[in-house]
Parts: sequence; C-alpha cells; structure tokens
Amino acid sequence: MEYSREELIEAVSSQMPAKRWEHTKGVMETAVILAKRFGADPVKAELAAILHDVAKYWPVQKLHQMMVEHALSEELLHYDKQLWHAEVGAFVAEHEYGVTDAEVLDAIRYHTSGRIGMKLLDKVVCLADYMEPGRDFPGVNNIRELANHSLEEALAAGFDSTIGHLLSRRQIIFPLTVQARNDLIKQLEANS
Ligand SMILES: [Fe+2]
Ligand SMILES: [Fe+2]
Repeated sequence: MEYSREELIEAVSSQMPAKRWEHTKGVMETAVILAKRFGADPVKAELAAILHDVAKYWPVQKLHQMMVEHALSEELLHYDKQLWHAEVGAFVAEHEYGVTDAEVLDAIRYHTSGRIGMKLLDKVVCLADYMEPGRDFPGVNNIRELANHSLEEALAAGFDSTIGHLLSRRQIIFPLTVQARNDLIKQLEANS
C-alpha cells in the first residue's frame, strides 16, 4: 500500500469534523478488540475501521456523482443517502489509498447495510461501528454485553435497533439490512 498507517490516519481525519474522527478512533479501537476476541485479523480490522467513514462528510452531490461515474451500486441510489458513503468509501479506499485486500474493502462497503453471508471481518467492523465507546443510543449497552460472548447475537441486536428505529419513524428500510439481519438469525438458530 502506498500509504503508511500514519499517513492514512492523517489523510482520513482531515476529511471529517473532529467529532467524527473521535468516532473513527473508537471504531478502530473496538474493531481491534473484537477482532482479537472473535479470531479476525486485527490489522485488517483496524485498516477497515480507519477508512470506513472516509466519505461520510463528503457533499451528497459528490457522493452521487461518484456512484454514477464509477457505476457503483445502482440500487443504493434509490435508498437513503446515508448508505452511499459506505459504497463510495470502499471505492476510495481502493482507488485513492491503494487498499487491495478484498476483505477490507468489503468490510468498508457493507459496514452500514450489512449483507447476506457477512464475513467475519464485515461483522467485526459493522459491530464496532455500532458499539464504539462514543456511541449512545437506547440498547447500546445491551449490544456491548452481547458482544462479550457472541458476535452474531450482538450484531443482530444492532440491526434490530436500526430497523426498529426506522420503523418507528416510518422510514424506508434498505432490504439488504433486513436480509443481513435474517441471515444472522438463521446462523444463530443453526448454531443453537
Ligand atoms: Fe459509516
Ligand atoms: Fe462509522
């Protein structure tokens, strides 16, 4: 990779407000802890965490333009703008920062939506994003508790909280998130 860890941190942190960078640092820290706890690669987990929100504060117009220009997920354009930064983030990680590891790129790409058949690294980064120390929403402590013993239980609770929140506000739910949640429940039932 062309960028050292420090250079990457510098480049990414300069693209977001200080508060969001605090969040990213929390996700880095938590992703490493979860990776070690559940047997994922902590170096890959931290790299994905550093970059996961790289495009979060880009203007919506720029995100939209990148999605169209580079033929990124067409489907996503029909759903909440909040989801776009993940897809664009994976593209930027690869094409601007030279990340070539497909697992890392997928963990960035699916950190908000989840997906069917989430890989270990996807789960770690997605869960770290839910439960980093700066997060404060109803149910976050329950997610942290569950994460002490089960990655899938904790992540399923995270998706439930997102879906519940969207339902209560009569907002549109990205179908992949529902599928990701159902898939986790299936995995949990299969293992119980
Ligand atoms: Fe994000
Ligand atoms: Fe995030």
